[in-house]
Amino acid sequence: MERTPAYDSLFLRACRCEPVERVPVWMMRQAGRYLPEYRAIRQRHPFLEVCKTPDLAVEVSLQPYRAFAMDAVIIFSDILIPAAAMGMPLEIGDGGPVLTNPIRDPAAISKLRAFDPEQETRFLCDALRQLRRALDPAVPILGFAGAPWTLACYMVEGRSKDGFPAAKQFFLHEPAAFAQLLNTVAAHTARYLTAQIGAGASAVQLFDTWAGELADADFRRVALPAIQRVIREVKAAYPSVPIILYSKGTAHLLDALAESGADVLSLDWRIDLASVRNRLGPHIALQGNVDPCVLLGPAAAIRQAVSDAIAKTAGHGHILNLGHGILPDTPVENARTFIETAKSISPAPAVKAVPR
Ligand code: CP3
Repeated sequence: MERTPAYDSLFLRACRCEPVERVPVWMMRQAGRYLPEYRAIRQRHPFLEVCKTPDLAVEVSLQPYRAFAMDAVIIFSDILIPAAAMGMPLEIGDGGPVLTNPIRDPAAISKLRAFDPEQETRFLCDALRQLRRALDPAVPILGFAGAPWTLACYMVEGRSKDGFPAAKQFFLHEPAAFAQLLNTVAAHTARYLTAQIGAGASAVQLFDTWAGELADADFRRVALPAIQRVIREVKAAYPSVPIILYSKGTAHLLDALAESGADVLSLDWRIDLASVRNRLGPHIALQGNVDPCVLLGPAAAIRQAVSDAIAKTAGHGHILNLGHGILPDTPVENARTFIETAKSISPAPAVKAVPR
């Protein structure tokens, strides 16, 4: 297997549960509105234009890295981009993303297009190649996609809505069609992520933000097989590229998440990482899980939250992150405190390899 210069980075070693000198750190939504330089670009360019213009997407991806030198750089895009590539009209305004022609019947599913990521989302592949050239080759780049259930929630609901009632209704009335939707999305998502790795992503993250809406039995029946398909197909192309699975409010789904095939589970702040490690063992890495609201508090509270989170895993197989995206009103200095505190906890308390 070909080893890229980023292979031995802290981030990729932590994904593989290998020993590290310190716990690597990045922040979900690290390229975003809390940064004045991001807001300056957004004042001149609509959100989708930034996503679809490689120069702008690369610039915005690099902004947080220039400010804080975190241990991974995530490509700037959005989880709704593939829905647009499948043929659904997408608008992203101040109220968040809107798919103006949502899926409400089985016939709409058969109209979804299988897309070639190097054609319909060429801008993303180009941005990844450009980002790879702009960064030190040892710095890992993250690609991403929505997990099938979360993407389907938006495709059916059309927008963010508490509890995604239209998505759940569709799933209840048309279980077979809904399963087909998730399976179709899974097939397209696997090709989309594989293309991102081909264009330079060192690892990929699946965002299953709304997995916690499902009971364990429904998650296993509906969402999990589609996640497993994505992971199986990406691993078939790139066996050594780590896959991170993010979810929120999923303490009741831990065993099922561990059966997904993901190398890393990214979890929110409601769960205790020590108890997760206890339950799932040392061979699945964990990412998280500081409450993004802590970054609205005083520096002492941020430092405490960082050291508490790292103490929970003793630094083994752990990527420090927030439990969800950084909030737009986070003071930049607080983001800096978060990153710098994580980098100062070195060496990690326990750096031994755990035998398999
Ligand atoms: O992490 C990063 O820095 C990379 C960029 C990134 C964005 N969206 C940019 C964005 C990533 C990884 C996402 C993922 C995403 N998008 C998710 C999963 C993670 C999560 O936050 O739950 C979801 C559910 C979406 C869909 C989405 N996009 C919503 C609900 C919204 C509106 C809410 C909001 O934060 O405004 C967006 C818009 C969006 N995507 C913004 C950014 C920076 C804000 C748009 C702006 O600049 O005006």
